[in-house]
Amino acid sequence: MSEPVRTTVEDGIAVIEIDNPPVNALSQAVRQGLVEAVQAADADPAINAIMIYGAGRTFIAGADIREFGKPPLPPSLPDVINDIEDVSTPTVCALHGTALGGGLETALGTHYRVALASARFGLPEVNLGILPGAGGTQRLPRIVPIAKAVKMITGGGMIGAKEALELGLIDEIVEGDDVRAAGVAMAKRLVAEGASARPTSARAANTVSAEDFAQMMAMVSKKARGLKAPINCMKAIEAAMTLPFEEGMTRERELFTELFTDPQSPAMIHAFFSEREVAKIPEMKTGTPRDIRKVGVVGGGTMGAGIATSALLAGLDVTLAERDTEAAEKAAATVSSHLAGAVKVGKLAQAKYDAIMGGAFRTTTDYGDFADADLVIEAVFESMEVKKDVFGQLDKICKPGAILASNTSYLNVDDIAAMTSRPQDVIGLHFFSPAHMMRLLEVVVGAKTSPDVVASGFALGKRMKKIAVRSGVCDGFIGNRILNAYARAINGAVLAGASPYDVDRAMQEFGLAMGLFRVADLAGLDIGWANRKRMAETRDPREQYSEFADRICELGRFGRKTGRGFYIHDKDKGELPDDEVLAIIANERADKGIAARDISDQEIIDRYMAAMINEAAKIVGEGIALRPLDVDITLLNGYGFPRWRGGPMHYADAVGLEKILNDIKTFAEEDDYFWQPAPLLEQLVAEGKTFASLNR
Ligand code: 3HC
Ligand code: NAI
Repeated sequence: MSEPVRTTVEDGIAVIEIDNPPVNALSQAVRQGLVEAVQAADADPAINAIMIYGAGRTFIAGADIREFGKPPLPPSLPDVINDIEDVSTPTVCALHGTALGGGLETALGTHYRVALASARFGLPEVNLGILPGAGGTQRLPRIVPIAKAVKMITGGGMIGAKEALELGLIDEIVEGDDVRAAGVAMAKRLVAEGASARPTSARAANTVSAEDFAQMMAMVSKKARGLKAPINCMKAIEAAMTLPFEEGMTRERELFTELFTDPQSPAMIHAFFSEREVAKIPEMKTGTPRDIRKVGVVGGGTMGAGIATSALLAGLDVTLAERDTEAAEKAAATVSSHLAGAVKVGKLAQAKYDAIMGGAFRTTTDYGDFADADLVIEAVFESMEVKKDVFGQLDKICKPGAILASNTSYLNVDDIAAMTSRPQDVIGLHFFSPAHMMRLLEVVVGAKTSPDVVASGFALGKRMKKIAVRSGVCDGFIGNRILNAYARAINGAVLAGASPYDVDRAMQEFGLAMGLFRVADLAGLDIGWANRKRMAETRDPREQYSEFADRICELGRFGRKTGRGFYIHDKDKGELPDDEVLAIIANERADKGIAARDISDQEIIDRYMAAMINEAAKIVGEGIALRPLDVDITLLNGYGFPRWRGGPMHYADAVGLEKILNDIKTFAEEDDYFWQPAPLLEQLVAEGKTFASLNR
């Protein structure tokens, strides 16, 4: 392999190129090569300026995450960057693509910065459960205002070149795509002007009052919900404000090490890599995505309107069919308001909005308008009869090769496909609500779905900036099947003595944004009720069925939309617990002869997790999910599972599969029908293996 860092000399400028594809991560070889190249150039009297840039599609995307968790390899990145900053020859960094994490820290260690107009900058370490540990928390506050440093470091997002210039993070923007030329030009200009080295560390840090900082800390803590990294980021920024640079660096190292050795960081790194691994499916090799430009959407309710919005935001042409003109108009208004929301937050330009509403989007009541669609996504009522009817009609109208997709939450995609003469073109595309916001897309592969159609589903997901997960066909696919399992376990805990409010508190303390019953109230209790009625015919008599949710629905309490559900939704006071709900639950306990007992938060979580992991192990064992990591990514992106816990399978490995299996066996003493251990879980325990071993 060629050296990842190369120097050439051009008119007295040492031009240092970093070439470590795909993203120029700061591996040991890059760190070593970089510091040696800079020091060699500094020692050479013929060199008047140094210029560093990245080869390929991007500047440095950060430390090499694949080295994390392994014994450290010197030189360390903080030392490398300090050494670069210390040279007396003026040093320029030329940036393109994304300068992220250690990449931006390297740039901050150079003396001058120029960037292409398309370049973006960020410190995303917090998303990996750590902090910028190579001086980023000390140098950034010496350039940008504290409020901005707090936002960038604790938020982990990116900013564009224009903002970076305004903030003084870069000195110049250059149009075009020749980053090397931009860097060399700046270096030559600096030499001509007689500029000298300008170390960031020598500047005074920006500050805010202790009161303002305390306020920022309070906001960050509230948002962190159990994640430790943002808190340590804040402590490091505080050190930048209050300590001399070197002491600040020492403090940054302490705070970094604390995070680096905590289980939260490996969990988030698992999530990072798994989000990339989920796209690696067999059909990526055997299938070729079909060209999709024109999309039809059937049904413009909650999901149809969201799916149409998502497709329009991805630049696709969309025709949405409703049952009648009135419903079509309502759907058009919903789509328009979703898109207006995207304009408001800067996700969509006004001109694009106008172009969409004036051409790329239309509604109809005639499926005949789908004749030239490349893909039609059905999002009508969750009824097999209605769906079969829709697919029968689509089969007659759509052109050969068009993909016919269903957004069903639970129903059998093979049965739907059987209504057409082309089951190879039928697939499930299960979006999550709100469909234009949620990142998860389950791509449900039927028995006859062709590899091209599967590959097309993944390509569509990517185009819509979603994370696609491959699922086989079963009731509820990966996500909702697991949801049903843990909902049953939680209902069991409620019957045993917990209240819905205890459950929500325990789940929120565990790291979820909302507990199960809050979510149910938000989504609408009628959806789950309809599904339970559908399942009633096939329900096994051995199932310990909890009825309180049905009783609540029978009172017309469907959650937030009716003002009452598990909670009272008061306009002024928010969500309030309700004695009527507690009475319904108490009645059911009395009917069933259950004496309520104290259930600790820990027991609630143990039941929740054991049910989730057990069902997930069944799903992996049956081949519905390709790997445990596919389950993790589903729960992280569709069900609010805390990212810093890495997903249920990662969590299971962390606490130990034996403990999970033992919990299941304990709970089975109360209900041995529900708590049947997954064969895969038993096998892994017997072999002393982990779920992670199946990801490889
Ligand atoms: N280290 C190692 N591998 C990395 C990496 C990194 N920092 N960043 C990306 N990769 C890998 C990906 O895993 C992927 O590998 P694969 O092809 O084998 O799946 C490949 O590079 C391409 O990545 P993407 O598929 O994500 O490519 P995109 O073009 O979609 O995105 C990106 C590029 C925006 C750079 C995105 O990869 C990204 O956000 N990377 C992570 C950036 C990051 O978190 N940096 C901070 C690192 S921690 C740090 O710097 C600590 C320091 O403060 C001490
Ligand atoms: P909804 O009731 O809000 O919308 C359904 C829409 O379909 C209505 O506007 C109705 O007029 C229209 N419709 C019914 N029959 C039609 C037909 N033959 N032709 C054209 N339009 C027709 O329902 P929602 O919530 O949007 O659900 C739709 C589908 O998406 C269901 O299969 C559901 O299970 C699934 N889903 C729902 C989620 C949710 O959170 N609401 C999440 C993921 C999937």
